[in-house]
Amino acid sequence: MKVAVLGAAGGIGQALSLLLKTGLPAGSELSLYDVAPVVPGVAVDLSHIPTDVKVTGFGADALDQALTGCDIVLIPAGMPRKPGMDRADLFNVNAGIIKTLAEGIVANCPKALVGIITNPVNGTVPIVAEVFKKAGTYDAKRVFGITTLDVIRSEAFIAELKGVDVASVKVPVIGGHSGTTILPLLSQVEGVTFTDEEVAALTPRIQNAGTEVVNAKAGGGSATLSMGAAAARFCMSLVKGLQGEDVVDYAYVAVENGDAEYFAHPVRLGKNGVEEILSYGELSAFEEQAKNDMLDTLKKDIKEGVDFINA
Ligand code: NAD
Ligand code: LMR
Repeated sequence: MKVAVLGAAGGIGQALSLLLKTGLPAGSELSLYDVAPVVPGVAVDLSHIPTDVKVTGFGADALDQALTGCDIVLIPAGMPRKPGMDRADLFNVNAGIIKTLAEGIVANCPKALVGIITNPVNGTVPIVAEVFKKAGTYDAKRVFGITTLDVIRSEAFIAELKGVDVASVKVPVIGGHSGTTILPLLSQVEGVTFTDEEVAALTPRIQNAGTEVVNAKAGGGSATLSMGAAAARFCMSLVKGLQGEDVVDYAYVAVENGDAEYFAHPVRLGKNGVEEILSYGELSAFEEQAKNDMLDTLKKDIKEGVDFINA
C-alpha cells in the first residue's frame, strides 16, 4: 500500500502522517509532499518510529516523485480559516492549489483513490473531478471528500450529552461539509433518543463545530488534531476496501440522480473505491426540512468548483 499526503508539513498533514506511520499495514510506504522546506525533516522525524512503514519526504519540485505509484492520495494542502471567515472565503486561495495537485495525480497515479480535506470541500471535490474529466482519467468511484470529522464530532458530542460509551455511538452525517450543509441524522442514532429541544441544539453544534475550534484557536488555525484522526480513520477504511474487506463509511461523493451532484452518503468501499452508494434512509421531518433548506447553498458551492475549471 503506498499512500501520499499532500500538504504533509501542515497541522493536519503532520498529525495524519504520524497516525499513518503507526497505523498503516506492515510493508506500506508513506510519501510526504509539501511546498514547505521542513517536509524532509518531518519524514526523517517519523522514520525514527519503529514501524514497518517506509516514510519519504518530497519538497516543492518533487510532486511527480511523491505521487508515482500511489494507491491512495490524501490532500490537506492549503490555507485554513481564521476567526470571522467562512470556509467559502478559502476558495480563491485553495482552488489553484487543488488544481495543481490534481494535475499531478493525473500524470503520476491516475488510478489512485483520492481523499480531499482542503476547504471548501463542497467545491474542492468538484475541482478535482473536473481536472480528471478534462484529462480523461475521471472515475467517480475514486474521488472522495473526507467528511469523517463531522461523523467523529457527532459521536463525541452525543456520547458526552447522553453519558453513553462513545464506542457504541454511530451517527450518519450526510450533505456537504460547511455550516448547514452538514446534516447529522440524529433520528437514526441507535440506542439513543433525543427530545426536539436536544435536536434543535445539537444539530447546529455539530454544524458549527469547525467554527468552535477556529474561535478557540484565536487566529492560530482550524482543527488539525481531530482532523488528522478523522482522515486516518477514513484512510484505514479505504485501505481495508482495497484489501478486499467489505467496509461501509461516509464520504462526500458524486451521486447520480441524487439530492445534488455531490452529496455525503454512506458508501460501500472495496477494491475499486466506491462499490455502492447506499441510501441514507428515512429522514425525520426536521431533517427533511434542513436538507431542503441547504440544497441551494450546496449546489452553489459545487457550481463554483465546476466553473473554476470550465469557465
Ligand atoms: P496548515 O496551514 O497547517 O497546513 C497546510 C499545508 O499545506 C502547509 O504545510 C503548506 O505548506 C501546504 N501547502 C500549501 N500549498 C501547497 C501546495 N501547493 N502543495 C503542497 N502543500 C501545500 O493548514 P491545516 O490546518 O493543515 O489545514 C489544511 C486545509 O484543511 C485547510 O484548507 C483547512 O480548511 C482544511 N480542513 C479541512 C477539514 C475537513 O473536515 N475537511 C478539517 C480541518 C481543516
Ligand atoms: C472543520 O470542520 O473543522 C474544518 O472544515 C475546518 C474549518 O474551517 O472549520
